[in-house]
Amino acid sequence: MAAPLPIAWLNGEFVALSEARISPLDRGFLFADSVYEVLPVYDGRPFLFNAHLSRLERSLSAIGMAPPLPRSRWAELLGELVARNGGGQQFVYVQVSRGAEYGRNHAPDPTLTPTLFMMTSPLAPLDPSVRAHGVDAVTVADERWKRCDIKSNALLANILAKNVAARAGATEAILLAQGQLREGASSAVMIVRNGVIYAPPEGNEILPSTTRVLVTLLATRLGIPVQQQVITEAELRAADEVLLGFATRGVLPVCRLDGTAINSGHPGPVWQRLQTAFEAYRSTVASLPIDEEA
Ligand SMILES: Cc1ncc(COP(=O)(O)O)c(C=O)c1O
Repeated sequence: MAAPLPIAWLNGEFVALSEARISPLDRGFLFADSVYEVLPVYDGRPFLFNAHLSRLERSLSAIGMAPPLPRSRWAELLGELVARNGGGQQFVYVQVSRGAEYGRNHAPDPTLTPTLFMMTSPLAPLDPSVRAHGVDAVTVADERWKRCDIKSNALLANILAKNVAARAGATEAILLAQGQLREGASSAVMIVRNGVIYAPPEGNEILPSTTRVLVTLLATRLGIPVQQQVITEAELRAADEVLLGFATRGVLPVCRLDGTAINSGHPGPVWQRLQTAFEAYRSTVASLPIDEEA
């Protein structure tokens, strides 16, 4: 592990990450009985706080857990954690597990105290090569479970897919099922055709992406139509542009899919307009309170 590690927050206390400890009996460790969030921080301000907290509350509710803290308390803690780690550009990882329990019971003891954990990591700026050349992606069969709308720590299938991409030197694995586009191993995927952005329908098969919601807002402001509809593999491969949305990386243009160029093989005009709008949006919200967006 790289040193020095930052300050983390674990079960009510700020601690050096190198000193943070949880029990091996934690259900997050034994069963992946836990959910998580990842929030970007720009200029010391957590971005899209309410969107991320709504999704965390939604994931918790989906696994039968109550929110362990009110949103106002998460806001205070996040603000303090980011400040203790020097502000600037970071991303915060938040994990809530059902807690630690001896006996390895599949059915959890309903009286457990959840384990709450947050840590920060540096947020890399957009790689200049992306503006010129975009990124590579490969397609992989979606082998995940039927509740991909829950941001669960059970990520083995995502990891295996990402590893296929990594071995091919690609940034992302784009998941396909029944001849249709789902999403990336850790991103939302949208396509552009004839000036319209198309996104796969919301539902249990994909995560509700915060970046995709922002793309929809910015595109609408730019007069670019956005439509939700099933996208076939053939439509993906023939798209004018393919866009990946990640909270930690913004929107990235895919310029090669399985080694074949998408359109001209360079980032397209819709990505460029969205990127400019995204950067402008970030500076517009920079001075707003953490729980407000423009
Ligand atoms: C499977 C999956 N889909 C989509 C996304 C994109 O969500 P967001 O835009 O909120 O980062 C992520 C991000 O972690 C993800 O892991």
